[in-house]
Amino acid sequence: MHHFIYRKNELYCEDVPIRVIAENVGTPFYLYSHATLKRHFLIFDEAFEGLKRLICFSAKANTNLAVLKLFESLGGGLDIVSGGELYRGLKAGFSPDRIVYSGVGKRVDEIDYALDTGILMFNIESLEELELIDKRAGLLKRRAPVAIRINPDVDPKTHPYISTGLEKSKFGINTETAIEGYKVANKLENIDIVGIDCHIGSQITEAKPFEEALESLKNLINELKQLGIEIQYLDMGGGLGITYDDESPPHPREYAKAIVKSLEGTHLYLILEPGRVIVGNAGILVTRVLFRKSGKNKEFVIADAGMNDLMRPTLYNAFHAIKPVVTTEDPPIMADVVGPICETGDFLAVERKISDVKQGDLLAVMSAGAYGFTMSSNYCSRPRVAEVMVKDDRFYVVKDRQNYEDLVAGESIPPFLED
Ligand code: LLP
Repeated sequence: MHHFIYRKNELYCEDVPIRVIAENVGTPFYLYSHATLKRHFLIFDEAFEGLKRLICFSAKANTNLAVLKLFESLGGGLDIVSGGELYRGLKAGFSPDRIVYSGVGKRVDEIDYALDTGILMFNIESLEELELIDKRAGLLKRRAPVAIRINPDVDPKTHPYISTGLEKSKFGINTETAIEGYKVANKLENIDIVGIDCHIGSQITEAKPFEEALESLKNLINELKQLGIEIQYLDMGGGLGITYDDESPPHPREYAKAIVKSLEGTHLYLILEPGRVIVGNAGILVTRVLFRKSGKNKEFVIADAGMNDLMRPTLYNAFHAIKPVVTTEDPPIMADVVGPICETGDFLAVERKISDVKQGDLLAVMSAGAYGFTMSSNYCSRPRVAEVMVKDDRFYVVKDRQNYEDLVAGESIPPFLED
């Protein structure tokens, strides 16, 4: 059941015509379908039926409080990478014991915040971090539950910018050093070893790399057992891909199958950190055509959303399908869909066959629910766009569009520059 569908000639989100939302909210805006978010979360969770598990949604994919609250209410946990994400998670109502904290560069204030909050575990990415966390926990008189993030050196066969589990990447600790790390952790006074973790990359479209990583982690768990170190939580990270264009990633059930099979009968508590697979296809970016123009050999559709609103096309050459909100009978055109920013890289699509949209028409940039709004910026002093959630036949603005005042909030002119 899809929740972004055409009825007659108009694109709807659930039971709301997207055109109506645009008339009320203005453009551009991100639009999320509540039913799709919920369905994706439940399908993913239920795929692991039979295992003790916690689905820690990876906040970086979409940090809107309404989105987070939904996953919290469905029994989910949260994967965070910063103090800011911890703050959002708590605001959305996540219990701290459902929050895991990943990231190669945790600052002292962020570590202290997480220790004070009492999160489920820190996913440690270096020995220096381990030692710092022990020290801070001692000072704050807290226990620090940790997992070590293993870099299992498997190739996830995805875009190099989002491969994280290769030896050459900055993430995690290689298997040999990890054993050393666990030995050190075992001796540190304020550290409780609770888990083992990995995250091998993002937008992965086959199950094999996950299976390889799992094997490597299970071997380590056995080795650790020999050393008298018991692992309770096995965190497999996120990374399952989605269909943007013609990719055919495994269905969550297929992805889960090998993991469930391999862990059945063990005492391990599984943690997963999916981001994109839950929210990616549950959101779109809606933009209005400002102008059309014809270059020498090219047709341009100039939209009011640009690279600052959706970075993925220019940053990763990522494909996002672009659909008309109201269809036309006219034959499609080949065009570059570009934004208003003064950079050649400011495009949503290049040489794309799209509907023959005209000035004032609305376009839906599909599969934009993950790493869309969260990676947006104020470049060119463009206010961040609104976020809207649809449930059934109603829409809710879940984040206001920024205004010009918001753009200068916190800035000041020092006295020596005043007139
Ligand atoms: N866990 C950790 C430790 C991560 O670093 C990530 C993503 C995830 C979980 C969630 O991965 P997912 O299930 O969403 O693949 N901005 C890029 C994606 C960067 C992913 C970074 N880490 C993009 O737009 O494609």
